[in-house]
Amino acid sequence: MKKVTVKASQSYEVIIEKGILSRAGELIAESFKPCGIMLITDSNVSPLYADKAKRSLEQNGFKVSTFVFPAGEESKNSDTLVKIWSALASVPLTRSDMIVALGGGVVGDVSGFAAATFLRGIKYIQIPTTLLAMVDSSVGGKTAIDLPEGKNLCGAFCQPSLVICDTDTLNTLPKREFSCGMAEVIKYGMIDRPIIFDLIKNGDIDDTVFECVSAKRDKVEEDEFDTGVRQLLNLGHTVGHAIERLANFSLSHGEAVAAGMAIITRYAVKEGLCPKEAENKLIEALNSFDLPINTEREPAELAKAALNDKKRRGNSITLVVPMGIGKSELIKKHPDELEEIIRLGY
Ligand code: NAD
Ligand code: GLY
Repeated sequence: MKKVTVKASQSYEVIIEKGILSRAGELIAESFKPCGIMLITDSNVSPLYADKAKRSLEQNGFKVSTFVFPAGEESKNSDTLVKIWSALASVPLTRSDMIVALGGGVVGDVSGFAAATFLRGIKYIQIPTTLLAMVDSSVGGKTAIDLPEGKNLCGAFCQPSLVICDTDTLNTLPKREFSCGMAEVIKYGMIDRPIIFDLIKNGDIDDTVFECVSAKRDKVEEDEFDTGVRQLLNLGHTVGHAIERLANFSLSHGEAVAAGMAIITRYAVKEGLCPKEAENKLIEALNSFDLPINTEREPAELAKAALNDKKRRGNSITLVVPMGIGKSELIKKHPDELEEIIRLGY
C-alpha cells in the first residue's frame, strides 16, 4: 500500500493500492466513527463498483444511501447539484455524516461541491476510478460545477477527508479515458518530475499514480488557494481549455490539454526557452497514448476563447512555459500577446 499525506488546511491521506475498494469501509472506519454516508456515483461506474463499495461500508457500520446521476460532463451542472442537495436533505444527512464520491472527475467535482455547501459543509471522501481523477482531480480540494457560460465557473476549495485509489478499477476504463489521464500524468513529467517519463514506459501504474499525487501534494501544500506555484499544474490548460470549449466538448479535457502542452512547448522551443529534445520527448510520449499534438482551430479564435477563461487576472495572463523536461515556469504576458504565442506554437 502506498500513501501520500497532504497537509493543507485539512490533512488527509491518499491511499493507492490494487483491489483496495473492497476494503474502503475498513479504511474509512480507521479514522471515522460509523455515520450516515451518501455514496454518489454515475451511471457507468454504479453497475461496476457501487455494490462493492456499499457492501464494504455497511460491513463496517456505515448507513449507506446512494445517488446515481447520468455519466458525463453534461451532468456537472446546477441541476445535478440541486438533486444531490435534495437527496442529502431527504435522508436526512447531518453534519456528522459524509459523502463518498465514487467515480471520475465529474463525480468528484460535483460531489465535493455538494459537500462544501450542504449544511455549510460536511465531510467527503474521494474514491477516484479514472486515471485523471486519481492523479489530479481527487487531490487538492478544487470542487466545481459548469455553467452554460463555461466550465468550472462555480465552485469552492474544500479538501477531502481521505482519498482511496484502487488502481484495479482502471482495468474497466475505456482506452480513450485512460489516455486522457495520461495527458495529466505527462504534464507532471514536464512540470517537475522527469522520472514520470520512465515510469510510463516501464513502471507499475501504482508507482505512476504515487509520483503524480506526490507532485500535486507539493504544489497544494505550498499554495492551496492557487495564487502561485499551484498554477504550474495548469501547463497546457490555457490553450487546452480554449480547444475544449471550441470543440464543444467533443474533445475530452485530457486530449485538449495534450494539444495545449504541445503548442506551448513548441512556442518555448521557437523562442529559445526550451531545448528541442524536450519537445521531442513530450511529443513521443503524447503519441504513444494517441493523444493530439495540435488543433485545426485558428490562433485568433483560440486566443479569444482562452482569454474568457476564469484564470485571467486583470490585464495580464499567466502562462506555464516549459523550460525543459521537468522544469516549467510561470510567465506573465499581456493578453494581446497570446495569439502570436499560439501561432508560434502551431
Ligand atoms: P469523467 O468523470 O466524466 O469520467 C470519464 C468517463 O469514464 C465517464 O463516462 C465515467 O462514467 C467513466 N468511468 C469512470 N470510471 C470508470 C471505470 N473505472 N471504468 C469504466 N468507466 C469509468 O471524467 P474524468 O476524466 O475522470 O474527469 C474530468 C473532469 O474532472 C472534468 O470535469 C474536469 O473539469 C475535472 N477536473 C477537475 C480537477 C480538480 O482539480 N478538481 C482537475 C482536473 C480535472
Ligand atoms: N488541476 C489543477 C489544480 O488542481 O490546481
